[in-house]
Amino acid sequence: MILYNTITTLTSLLLTIKPSIAAPAAVASSNPLRGGENLIGYSPTNTISNENTETISYQLAAGQTDAANLGVYLNFEDVENPQPIRGSTGGTDPGPRNVEMEKMYSDKLAPPGTDSGATINAQWPLALSGVTLGKGKSGWSRQQNIDVLPAATEMAGVNMRLEAAGYRELHWHVAAEWALVLNGSCRIQAVNEDGQTFIDDVGKGDVWFFPAGIPHSIQALEDGVEFMLVFDSGSFSETNTFLATEIFAHNPREVLSKDLGVPVSSFQNIPSDKLFIFPGTPAPTDIQAQNITGSAGSVPQTQSYSYHFSEQPARQLEGGSVKILDPLSFPIASSFSAALVTINPGGLREIHWHTSSDEWTFFIQGQGRATLFTPPSEATTFDYLAGDVAYFPKSNSHYIENTGDEVLIVLEVLQADHYSDMSLAQWVGLTSKQIVQDTLNLTDETLSQFTTEKKIVVS
Ligand SMILES: *[C@@H]1O[C@H](CO)[C@@H](O)[C@H](O)[C@H]1NC(C)=O
Ligand SMILES: *[C@@H]1O[C@H](CO)[C@@H](O)[C@H](O)[C@H]1NC(C)=O
Ligand SMILES: *[C@@H]1O[C@H](CO)[C@@H](O)[C@H](O)[C@H]1NC(C)=O
Repeated sequence: MILYNTITTLTSLLLTIKPSIAAPAAVASSNPLRGGENLIGYSPTNTISNENTETISYQLAAGQTDAANLGVYLNFEDVENPQPIRGSTGGTDPGPRNVEMEKMYSDKLAPPGTDSGATINAQWPLALSGVTLGKGKSGWSRQQNIDVLPAATEMAGVNMRLEAAGYRELHWHVAAEWALVLNGSCRIQAVNEDGQTFIDDVGKGDVWFFPAGIPHSIQALEDGVEFMLVFDSGSFSETNTFLATEIFAHNPREVLSKDLGVPVSSFQNIPSDKLFIFPGTPAPTDIQAQNITGSAGSVPQTQSYSYHFSEQPARQLEGGSVKILDPLSFPIASSFSAALVTINPGGLREIHWHTSSDEWTFFIQGQGRATLFTPPSEATTFDYLAGDVAYFPKSNSHYIENTGDEVLIVLEVLQADHYSDMSLAQWVGLTSKQIVQDTLNLTDETLSQFTTEKKIVVS
C-alpha cells in the first residue's frame, strides 16, 4: 500500500500536488490453488494469478490530501490517473474504469467526506440522452424525464434545435410547456379554446408558455433557434404529443370531410407519417402576414403566451446576478416560477431549499457542483457541466458552487405561484444567538459575523 503523508494545510489548495510514483514493472506470479481439492475448479495444475495491484502510478489533485470533510472541488483535468482518495480515506482503482468521465465528475470519484448514504440521483447530462433527428437537417431534440431521472416527478425537460425555417410541427400535449430561448429566434403561434389567437417572435433569453391542451407551433426564423422546454410533469415525453399530421391520419376521411366541409379527395396528399421536426418555407418578416384573427380577436395581453425576459434587467448580487420570472409578471404561466442565475468564478448560490416545490435546474454555461442533503443524514455531491439537468426535491437543501473559471449560468424552475427560497445563512442569522450557540457550539466571534440578509449568490 502506497501512503502519501503530505502535510495538510490550506495552502495545498493553491498548489497542484503531483506526487508521481514510478511503477515497478508489474510482477505477475502464479501459485498453485490453495483451496481444498473438493472445491469447484480445483485441479493440481490450476493456478491463482498474483498480479500486483499496489504499484499504480498516479497523481493527486490540489486539495485531495486535505481532510476529507473540507471537501473542496477536485480538478482532475490535468491529473494523471486520478484516484478515489480524499484525505486519509479511499484507495486506488486498478480498473476497469472510464477515466474521462471520472475526470469530468470528480466528486463522484472522490466525494467530500461530508457525503453520506444514498440520496436520489439528482443529475442527468443531456449528453447521455438519445437525440431525435429531424427530417432533412431541420433540427433535432433530446429529453430528460422520469425514464432517466426517476425522482424528477414534477418536471421534465426537452432541448430542441430548429435550423432556419425548421418547424416543430403543430401539436398539443397533456402537460403545460414553459420555454427559455437559448440561441437564435423563432416564431410561435397558438389558438385557445375561445378562438383567440396568438403570434409572436421570441429571441435569446425570452420565455414562452403554452397551457396544457393549447395547440401551437414553433418555426425558427432566419438565424435558427435552440431552446429548452420545461414541462409540468416528470413523465412527459416528446414522442407522445398530439401531432396535427397524426390527428388527420387517424380520423376517417369521411369524417374529416364532414368536419372541415371539404371533399374527401382534399386529403389524398396528406402525410402518411408524422413530421415532428421538418424543414419549412421561411416565415415572412412581416408578422402581420401570419396574424390570423377570428371574431374573438387575439389573446389579451394579460394572458400573453410570451414574455420578453431578455429585456428584464438582472439584479446584481455579491457573487453574480439573478433575474426572477414568476406569475406576478407572467400570469399565464401560473404554476411556473424561475430564476436565471449567474455565479461568478468562485461564487456560490447559497445553501437553500424551496418550501413549496421541487426544483428543476438546467446548466446553460460553465460548470458547478451541488450537494443535495436529505434527512436524516443523506448527502450526495454532484458535479454539473453545461447541458446537464439537476433536480432537487422540495425542502431538500442544496447550493450551487461555480467550480470553473468562467461565469456559471443556471436556470432554476419551480412549480410555484411565486419564486421563493429559504436561505440557511439567513435562517441562522435571524435566530437568537443563544439558541444557535446551544445547538451548534459556535463561538461568539463566529456568530457575530452571520448575516441577517439573504445574499442569494455569495462571492
Ligand atoms: C448559445 O447560447 C449560449 C448560452 O447563452 C451561449 O453560451 C452560446 O455562446 C450561444 N451560442 C451561440 C452560437 O450564440
Ligand atoms: C394581430 O392582430 C390583432 C388584431 O388586429 C392585433 O390586436 C394583434 O396585436 C396582432 N398581433 C401582433 C403580434 O401584431
Ligand atoms: C464546544 O466546543 C468546545 C471547544 O472545542 C469544547 O470544549 C466543548 O466540549 C464543546 N461543547 C459541546 C457541548 O460539544
